[in-house]
Amino acid sequence: MNNAVAGFSKLSKKEKINWIANEYFSNPEEAQNIIRNYWNSDEKLQQLHDEFIENTITNLYIPLGVAPNFLINGKYKTIPMAIEESSVVAAASKAAKYWSTRGGFKATIINTEKIGQVHFTYSGDAEKLTQFFDEIKPKFFSETQSITKNMQQRGGGILDIKLKDKRSLLENYYQLHATFETKDSMGANFINSCLEQFATTLKEEAQNSALCQNDEKLEVVMSILSNYVPHCLVRAEVSCPIEELAEKHITNPQEFAERFVQAVQIAEVEPFRAVTHNKGIMNGVDAVILATGNDFRAVEAGVHAYAAKNGQYASLSHAKIENGIFTFWLEIPLAVGTVGGLTSLHPLVKLCLEILEKPSAPELMEIVAVAGLAQNFAALRSLTTTGIQEGHMKMHLNNIINQFEATDEERHLIKAHFKKTAVTHSAVVEFIENLRK
Ligand code: MEV
Repeated sequence: MNNAVAGFSKLSKKEKINWIANEYFSNPEEAQNIIRNYWNSDEKLQQLHDEFIENTITNLYIPLGVAPNFLINGKYKTIPMAIEESSVVAAASKAAKYWSTRGGFKATIINTEKIGQVHFTYSGDAEKLTQFFDEIKPKFFSETQSITKNMQQRGGGILDIKLKDKRSLLENYYQLHATFETKDSMGANFINSCLEQFATTLKEEAQNSALCQNDEKLEVVMSILSNYVPHCLVRAEVSCPIEELAEKHITNPQEFAERFVQAVQIAEVEPFRAVTHNKGIMNGVDAVILATGNDFRAVEAGVHAYAAKNGQYASLSHAKIENGIFTFWLEIPLAVGTVGGLTSLHPLVKLCLEILEKPSAPELMEIVAVAGLAQNFAALRSLTTTGIQEGHMKMHLNNIINQFEATDEERHLIKAHFKKTAVTHSAVVEFIENLRK
């Protein structure tokens, strides 16, 4: 079969689905049914989703859950989380409840600065370029006035523009390195529009100046925001006297605290562990980022770059015991928005932001960081006490039951049995097979 196709994007939705179904399925009708089963019955709503991207054939949905009882800076929050992994929302809820009686989470914004760059080459004299840049710098601001006007009214805008000499990395390579404050928007479009105007200004001014006489050449390579935002930073923290850590699985709080700190230290020095440790943090972060319509790829890229900022990939969270007080915290860079983008378009995203009581972008940064810390705490608590599989497999039991298309009666029997017995995939399969004999 020849799976290449010309002009696919111009086909109607129905034609696209027909093509997919006929090309890849021995039973095209069945494939078409699966695709249609996930359409929204409200045609307008479906059209909205169709138009988010190109070539939409249907919707892939993942569960949207909520984790209540998050006490953050003295206020209770219910955090919406969109995620498919069985144990994440349960773990977040448990950690939230646990810390709500131990002072809650404290979150602080360290900074909210974003970054964008115009990458260009210049073959002439560096001194001459520096002088030229100093002369034309005000033009970068004046010629972006129409773009920055509204943002300035909201208290944001371009913070600074610097010329950076990067010739030690690449021949003739320079940057305009610009910093921005984008208030409640993530700011990607704003930043990229400013940068493209900077590039135009740079090229035009260079042509009209003595910069490019003779053979000297200035060429813009590209203009784009950076998803590495080490100065758009938030900190989340929990702490309490060690003896207050006690609960059902923590019978010896001192020992627990020490082992917990050791577990974090391992992630601070050992990249293989750090990646998994941080993945646990991102379970919480991504789920809230997704539920609030933010760009999880941007957040993932930025957070992991930050984890490697000292030259080796390391833990994003830290823990200590000092004067009998256990403290656990993380610092992560987060570029998020609560206006613009999907936030006003997607009805469920709007709903999630309402559950969060319409946070500003900095407030959302705090909530996301707290969700990450809670998730990390829950994972480390399990790992250093009961092991991860007990809770994980309990939550995964439903998935196994669904895989076997269990009847209501079977479901009831399986659940009752595995309340008292350890859940493993093979044990559940064996139990189901025995039931069906
Ligand atoms: C699983 O999704 C996340 C964990 O592996 C995180 C961790 O090991 O810290 C449990």
